[in-house]
Amino acid sequence: MRKKVGLIGYPVSHSMSPQMQNGAFEKAGLSYVYDKYEVHPDQLAEAVRDMSEKGFAGWNVTIPHKQAIMPYLDEIAEDALKIGAVNTVVNENGKLTGYNTDGAGFLKGLMRHVSFPMEEAKVLIIGAGGASRAISYAMSKEGPKTIAITNRTMEKAQDIFSECLRDQDQVISLHEAEERLTEFNIVINTTSIGMKEDRLPLRVNHLKAGTVVSDIIYNPFKTALLKESEKRGAIIDNGVAMLVFQGALSFEKWTGVAPDASLMEKIVIEELGGSYVNR
Ligand code: ATR
Repeated sequence: MRKKVGLIGYPVSHSMSPQMQNGAFEKAGLSYVYDKYEVHPDQLAEAVRDMSEKGFAGWNVTIPHKQAIMPYLDEIAEDALKIGAVNTVVNENGKLTGYNTDGAGFLKGLMRHVSFPMEEAKVLIIGAGGASRAISYAMSKEGPKTIAITNRTMEKAQDIFSECLRDQDQVISLHEAEERLTEFNIVINTTSIGMKEDRLPLRVNHLKAGTVVSDIIYNPFKTALLKESEKRGAIIDNGVAMLVFQGALSFEKWTGVAPDASLMEKIVIEELGGSYVNR
């Protein structure tokens, strides 16, 4: 019988993970099936128990359960504890362990574009929500020279700084980030600005050519930030990479083998095809 894995969230209808994961299982010759399950917040405890009893090998967790699931797990890996969210559960004979592959997945995608040593990296992270927390934690582990974090609501950036960043890192205002943009060689947008409207999270007049600019948004394929940055000679990447590599790392935790990430990327891009916002 095929081993079960899947995604729980509310809603989950939009998710491309089933196509991406099932394509990768097939390519690897592994007998797993990935489905999505809409779980109302009131039914989370029951769903976890049910999936564990049914012998799921594990599953992904998305909004709004990433924090709420933590009390129902037997063990939580250090990265997920620091980030304060679980996106991947592994079930070993009824023992449930929570991980977070969002930050490490993002980093894996980003590193494909970074051609200088990380000790020379000066990173700007825009935004201070859940995605920023995962990325900030994973980035600080990579050992860049400095990380600056900026956000509309400064207190939230301050919290991430205290909990996930290092002494040499700093919290700066959006205005300061715009003025000092030329100092950074990696710029990451973790806000939702650019998803619904053709707007930049900050002005990029001072962006240096050759800077790696990454946006976690994947629809539109090229946000206003990526378009403007590209015009200034930046190396750009969108959120497809984070989606693919967080999934690839979950796949590895469930199966013990690495999937074909290029195939997963191809599947996501094909799936997005029809629904792209084209500005
Ligand atoms: P996620 O879990 O995807 O990171 P989130 O936790 O809701 O989502 O975080 C959204 C981020 O986008 C935050 O940094 C938020 O800024 P605030 O902390 O100031 O709310 C940012 N964001 C969303 N809409 C914004 C807007 N219109 N202007 C500025 N920042 C915005």
